[in-house]
Amino acid sequence: MVKADQIVADLERLQREGASVEDLLKAAVHGLHELDERFHWTGIYELFPDNVLRLGPFIGAPTDHVFIGVGRGVCGTAVAERRNINVPDVRLVQNYLACSTETRSELVILIRKGEKIYAQVDIDSHQVAAFDEITVKRVQRIADWLAGLYESRESLGRDS
Ligand code: SME
Repeated sequence: MVKADQIVADLERLQREGASVEDLLKAAVHGLHELDERFHWTGIYELFPDNVLRLGPFIGAPTDHVFIGVGRGVCGTAVAERRNINVPDVRLVQNYLACSTETRSELVILIRKGEKIYAQVDIDSHQVAAFDEITVKRVQRIADWLAGLYESRESLGRDS
């Protein structure tokens, strides 16, 4: 079993045991962060109806970027352009919002169901081009599971 499948299996077990959405998101961030030793900052930003991303659970250095407007930075651009963004070298990106001066590459994977964007996984690495194809697929597997979680929360019409 690849590690992403193991993380999803663990999340499903926690969910069956009655874990809250908040606890599942924290567990997902923990699992994601452990996926690869090149991940130095791993977090979830949630998209709010006022078109602002708000930082949820994260592992790594505290960041000033707790709120990011859609269209700003790598995170906000991913939502504005409705696509995942893999930045091999943040030093070459003009609208990059620095979380740490050590960050070299960044990956944003949207947590979405079709056109509906709920949130995003944001990962920073101190290494240039840390996010190869296999790594991106692993992160995507967990982001897809989280999309199902957000969708079910929405259909229940409550926060947790
Ligand atoms: N680098 C991001 C901001 C978030 S911090 O990396 C945690 C961006 O450019 O949107």
